[in-house]
Amino acid sequence: MVTVADMDTEQTLEPTLERPLGGNVLPLCTWPDPVLGGECTTVEAVTEDIMALARDMATTMYASQGIGLAAPQIGHSIRMIVVDVSGPDKREQLITLVNPVIEQAQGCIDSEEGCLSLPQFRATVERAEIVRVRGQDLQGNEVCIEADGLLAVCLQHEIDHLQGTLLIDKVGRLKRGMYERKIAKRAKRP
Ligand code: NI
Repeated sequence: MVTVADMDTEQTLEPTLERPLGGNVLPLCTWPDPVLGGECTTVEAVTEDIMALARDMATTMYASQGIGLAAPQIGHSIRMIVVDVSGPDKREQLITLVNPVIEQAQGCIDSEEGCLSLPQFRATVERAEIVRVRGQDLQGNEVCIEADGLLAVCLQHEIDHLQGTLLIDKVGRLKRGMYERKIAKRAKRP
């Protein structure tokens, strides 16, 4: 089995590399917040607001020690994701994608993952080994990324969020039930 910690990454396209410019740390929505379960809408135009939101998403991802974040995780039900698999310590490969879709997927690997919206939950799920993802960058340019390893897994995880699919939806009933009880217990705490 491959865990996210030891997969290597190869990214074939560069124009999406960006650096965050300021931005705010926004509160993260955690399961079972209904915003996480809905289908996100297409971003029609990259406005100033969308650009500001993308900045905030990157800043929030870094502050939360994450390597990926999808817009619904900060309460916006729109198709936008940020990933940086050089993180969480480095900030060298930020990719912001608007309206990303998986165009092609190949192979199958076991991937052990966590999610910022599912605190203290980890699960091993099946992912494609190689993906081709198409979307737009913040300049409105068409972007195509071919990825394997950690980047491929991370892109699949974040794009799942845009369909309202979380890791917890991909595990068995027993594991899901255990987590539901854990969260219910925590919610009861004063
Ligand atoms: Ni997640």
